[in-house]
Amino acid sequence: MNLLFLGDIVGRPGREAVEAHLPTLRQKLATDLVVVNGENAAGGFGLTRAIANDLFALGVDVISTGNHWADQKEIFTLIESDERIIRPVNYPQGTPGRGATLISTASGARVLVINVMGRVFMDALNDPFAAVEAELAACPLGEAADAVIVDVHAEATSEKMAMGHFCDGRASLVVGTHTHVPTADAQILPGGTAYQSDAGACADYDSVIGMDKAEPLQRFTRKIPTQRYTPASGPATLCGVFVQTGANGLASRVEPVRLGGRLMAAVPSL
Ligand SMILES: [Fe+2]
Ligand SMILES: [Fe+2]
Repeated sequence: MNLLFLGDIVGRPGREAVEAHLPTLRQKLATDLVVVNGENAAGGFGLTRAIANDLFALGVDVISTGNHWADQKEIFTLIESDERIIRPVNYPQGTPGRGATLISTASGARVLVINVMGRVFMDALNDPFAAVEAELAACPLGEAADAVIVDVHAEATSEKMAMGHFCDGRASLVVGTHTHVPTADAQILPGGTAYQSDAGACADYDSVIGMDKAEPLQRFTRKIPTQRYTPASGPATLCGVFVQTGANGLASRVEPVRLGGRLMAAVPSL
């Protein structure tokens, strides 16, 4: 299978990059499944119904999120009714929505997508490792799922890397989100799981992690907020990870994807 994962889409520039590049990328890479992280898609904060529908119309199959999943109030009904949208699995019991979803591809393959949030330098949620263990046990790779993707939404590289090894041999891809900067450590772990510490964001990189740089600079230098954060408005770089899996659902290939905007391009070819 050919799997494409795109990191946090930040505001309109991020959405425009996905709109500009995803249709051709899907063809070029013959993708079976596309997952995007949409937690910053609506003006940098959360996800709306209209934006989710636009992403699905572009060929996105699953939208994962993160700590910003609930920033737009309309998400609460949407996430209850649409199994293609997930939030981190380790929120307390009773939180609306789901943290994992099993999706069928056009060819009938079953792909489990899990969204989980780290706890280092982040809100103290339930144990992310125990939560992922439960999902993997309920839907094992090679038995109930033909591929497994884990979006680990976390601040600390160490926690993400530990999650990669925790899932090694049991997931097709473990990929980080949240830090909005692509890391150069794409690899296949010893057990066959593709891994990259952060997919990077679909965002304007003349920014502070996708946001217009004036207000972050103001807050770092003066320690006084003067306005809301808004997404930087220049052309965005689409950032993500491309994975090919073999018959066992484990990775045979992993490559970073970067396209458009300011970052150096990286486009896999089949
Ligand atoms: Fe984000
Ligand atoms: Fe985040």
